[in-house]
Amino acid sequence: MSEWEALENECRSCRNCSLHIERTNVVFGIGSREAEVVFIGEGPGRQEDLLGEPFVGRAGKLLDDMLSLINLDRKRIYIANIVKCRPPNNRDPLPEEQNNCFHWLDRQLTLLSPRIIICLGRISAMRLIKQDFRITKEHGLWFKYGESDITAIYHPSALLRDPGKRPETFVDLKAIQKRIKDTCVRTY
Ligand code: URA
Repeated sequence: MSEWEALENECRSCRNCSLHIERTNVVFGIGSREAEVVFIGEGPGRQEDLLGEPFVGRAGKLLDDMLSLINLDRKRIYIANIVKCRPPNNRDPLPEEQNNCFHWLDRQLTLLSPRIIICLGRISAMRLIKQDFRITKEHGLWFKYGESDITAIYHPSALLRDPGKRPETFVDLKAIQKRIKDTCVRTY
């Protein structure tokens, strides 16, 4: 069994926090295990819980459109979340739920060793970039996560709620596209 399979099997039987009680599926992550570019959301919603795949609801459709704007698709990147099970009523994952779950993502990132990480929204950025991350002021800025370059953009759900944020996100996406061209060996 590969390291990926072992990790996925272990994760699928996780009962480390109470989110496992109401889950239909663990949403482990999807995409290429060779990906140089990784997108990290916050946690599964209802559709994701039902299908076991990240970003398959309305926000996921918008994420696919955002990816195609910069010539990416799901097969060439990896997509995961900070927590693997759905928080009830789409509330933010609690700090202890994030703490209990984080080692799964950490192990995925170790296996992937991506060149570029893109946080989708505040929760992901506060976890992976810095605790006091301000998405309105700091989206589009670049930081380091170990050896990887890391940035954050608005969460697609925020863009659905407030289309006025879309022009800024377009600029961020174009900068991400350039960073990928400059940094990645295989993605383009
Ligand atoms: N929102 C997220 O943060 N992740 C998903 O997988 C779906 C919606």
